[in-house]
Amino acid sequence: VKSGTLYGVGVGPGDPELVTLKALRILQTVPVLAWPAPEEGPSLAREIVAQHLPGTQREIPIRMPLLPAQFPANDVYDKAAREIGAVLAAGDNVAVICEGDPFFYGSFMYLFGRLAGDYPVEVVPGVSSLTACAAALGTPLSAKNDVLTVVPGPLDAETMKQRLADADAAAIIKVGRHLEKIRSVIDELGLGANARYIERATMSEQRIVPLAEVGDDDAPYFSMILVHKRAEVWK
Ligand SMILES: C[S@@+](CC[C@H](N)C(=O)[O-])C[C@H]1O[C@@H](n2cnc3c(N)ncnc32)[C@H](O)[C@@H]1O
Repeated sequence: VKSGTLYGVGVGPGDPELVTLKALRILQTVPVLAWPAPEEGPSLAREIVAQHLPGTQREIPIRMPLLPAQFPANDVYDKAAREIGAVLAAGDNVAVICEGDPFFYGSFMYLFGRLAGDYPVEVVPGVSSLTACAAALGTPLSAKNDVLTVVPGPLDAETMKQRLADADAAAIIKVGRHLEKIRSVIDELGLGANARYIERATMSEQRIVPLAEVGDDDAPYFSMILVHKRAEVWK
């Protein structure tokens, strides 16, 4: 049997209209769909494309623990890779959907790492949260010779401070429960006025509030802070 192809499909940041035509075609024709989800509750990636699905596919949930200590959840990915690998070996195509873009901090890459040596893989890029947040905030991300740095919220304060000090523009991702630390670093660098906060960009519950007004424990996982140090060079 000719083996099936594994598709890593980016489904964009939340707005179902930001799903690409290529992703749509694959999602509507592939016989097996796999989606990441928390241990309990719905899959955000699946919710983004739910209205486009034919309703006839076999679905493989990939449920993973959210505790950082268990991340990346090797057992979960090993098991999912075995299950998906069996489908591919039998000749069927499988699409693994991923919020945003699969290769921008996406969990798809752990399946890619396990399966790409044995099966054909095609990665379909998606609209990333990085560009979606800039668009929703109405702030260009970077211009001219700006060095744009992506800073994960879990970094320790000292490293984060250094990275932000060196950057012209920065996107701080995975804000969530790290908000208090991130805000102190921004304040220490005197960048409070240059930082913009957004949660759930392009989703129906999108919220934009001044960074100073977000409660220490109130930032959801799907939030981002964009910081820039340049003048508004585009004006
Ligand atoms: C594991 S990364 C995945 C990124 C995703 N693959 C992408 O291309 O956007 C998750 C982080 O991306 C950011 N993120 C993803 N979607 C977002 C959205 N709609 N609004 C704001 N931030 C988002 C948040 O910082 C979140 O903690």
